[in-house]
Amino acid sequence: MHDIIRQLDEKRAAARLGGGQKRIDAQHAKGKLTARERIELLLDEDSFEEWDMFKEHRCTDFGMGAEAVPGDGVVTGYGTVNGRLVFVFSQDFTVFGGSLSETHAQKICKVMDHAMKVGAPVIGLNDSGGARIQEGVDSLGGYADVFQRNVMASGVVPQISLIMGPCAGGAVYSPAMTDFIFMVKDSSYMFVTGPEVVKTVTHEEVTAEELGGAVTHTTKSGVADLAFEDDVDALAGLRRFIDFLPLSNREKPPVRPTADPADRLDESLDTLVPANANQPYDMKELIAKVVDEGDFFELQPDYAKNILIGFGRMEGQTVGIVANQPLVLAGCLDIKSSIKAARFVRFCDAFNIPVVTFVDVPGFMPGTSQEYGGIIKHGAKLLYAYAECTVPKITLITRKAYGGAYDVMSSKHLRGDVNLAWPTAEIAVMGPKGAVEIIFREEKNDPTKISAREAEYKEKFANPFVAAHRGFIDDVIMPHNTRKRICRSLAMLRDKQLDNPWRKHGNIPL
Ligand code: HXC
Repeated sequence: MHDIIRQLDEKRAAARLGGGQKRIDAQHAKGKLTARERIELLLDEDSFEEWDMFKEHRCTDFGMGAEAVPGDGVVTGYGTVNGRLVFVFSQDFTVFGGSLSETHAQKICKVMDHAMKVGAPVIGLNDSGGARIQEGVDSLGGYADVFQRNVMASGVVPQISLIMGPCAGGAVYSPAMTDFIFMVKDSSYMFVTGPEVVKTVTHEEVTAEELGGAVTHTTKSGVADLAFEDDVDALAGLRRFIDFLPLSNREKPPVRPTADPADRLDESLDTLVPANANQPYDMKELIAKVVDEGDFFELQPDYAKNILIGFGRMEGQTVGIVANQPLVLAGCLDIKSSIKAARFVRFCDAFNIPVVTFVDVPGFMPGTSQEYGGIIKHGAKLLYAYAECTVPKITLITRKAYGGAYDVMSSKHLRGDVNLAWPTAEIAVMGPKGAVEIIFREEKNDPTKISAREAEYKEKFANPFVAAHRGFIDDVIMPHNTRKRICRSLAMLRDKQLDNPWRKHGNIPL
């Protein structure tokens, strides 16, 4: 008996060593942790239950028959983050470069299937050289099996990818279909074709970091949501992030006790909006002053900065926040910001997270690059996302809500549940200057007349009361009361029920 137990211990120790000490040292030398060290940091202490530690590939080509390593390059199982269940797979670069074999894929599929059955997030820690070259189409089949599960799990359980090493070729498409992608600076990259192929085909010289590093994907492409300094920073950030999410679409958003009173007033908000309508202010200040304890987990902070998205809590309950940012492009909606916010709203809707929208938007961005780039279709994504969304929707207009952008930004007409405005709100088809120049074109060259017309237009439309008269705005509130009013609205909406008509699926303008 003792021998058998000893043998098990030995087998486990061998599996834990992955590709061997030399490769572990090489991993550390690159500033990267091993697959198991990452899991240890991600999950609560002693909570990890590993599966398939002894699973091995069955490939015999290219000398692989003699090269089996227990676990086959991915560590899988489940555990908890702050006591809440999550499933995890962590690719082990020390074993065949973390490359994905048929067996490796089966291990990932197993945790995904269980996550779906019990309703818990799937977290992938990606560090892989891609398809296991020796296996050929078996490996490609394995990828497709994972892709199919990514799609089936979409909107059912949260899926989060943390890219901690290479992720190239078709392999990028599994993370791409997950809800959030986090990356580690300087040690991770994602691209469909690497620098060598790029050089051959387009003659561009570019490094892997420039082509697909964390900074590139969080500033230029918008593929990734956040860039972290190193593995430890990323795993700590991921733990904090998971706390905001429900475990599945069967759950309400999590509630965490807070000492921040729901009726906390903030007088400083009364002077947040400058008297001059063209002067910007930082919308992040409003968010920080409204959410519990100023804790706003912002996503994509360096991409399409004219819109802010992220999670906060109100009376302990997670809410998704979308806000125009007047500091950048005056808060205009453009292609990137529409896509950024639309995907976020859809995540919130899929996972029962109320959406709080702060509006200060002068309209859609004009210009040929926007029109040629398809702002019509991309702007429609945000409109579509808000319109199909059935979770509680609270909207606050702080200043401008002009034109089509007024409609799009969670207006009453798109089934906004509670639509509030500050007294500084201006809800109109366009700004006063543009408006009078069109309707009083013949007076254009008479500055006295034009400024009188502008004042008249401002008086009539540059305020929240025309919309309030029609019930499009439920109330005009004092800025210092914002937190209290939103908390009350959310409490009132806690058991909201609204269903869209049955259909196979809608056809969002992609
Ligand atoms: C099998 C692989 C591998 C792979 C790396 N290794 N990638 N083994 N299949 N795809 C092995 C190496 O042979 C090496 O083994 C060990 O992993 C570490 O690799 P190194 O090259 O020494 O590491 P490094 O210098 O850090 O370079 C990492 C790398 C490079 C950039 C990822 O290994 C690389 O370019 N690999 C090939 C990438 C690739 O072309 N993959 C297929 C892409 S197509 P030893 O024994 O020496 O330690 C694809 C299609 C997916 O993925 C399609 C889905 C639809």
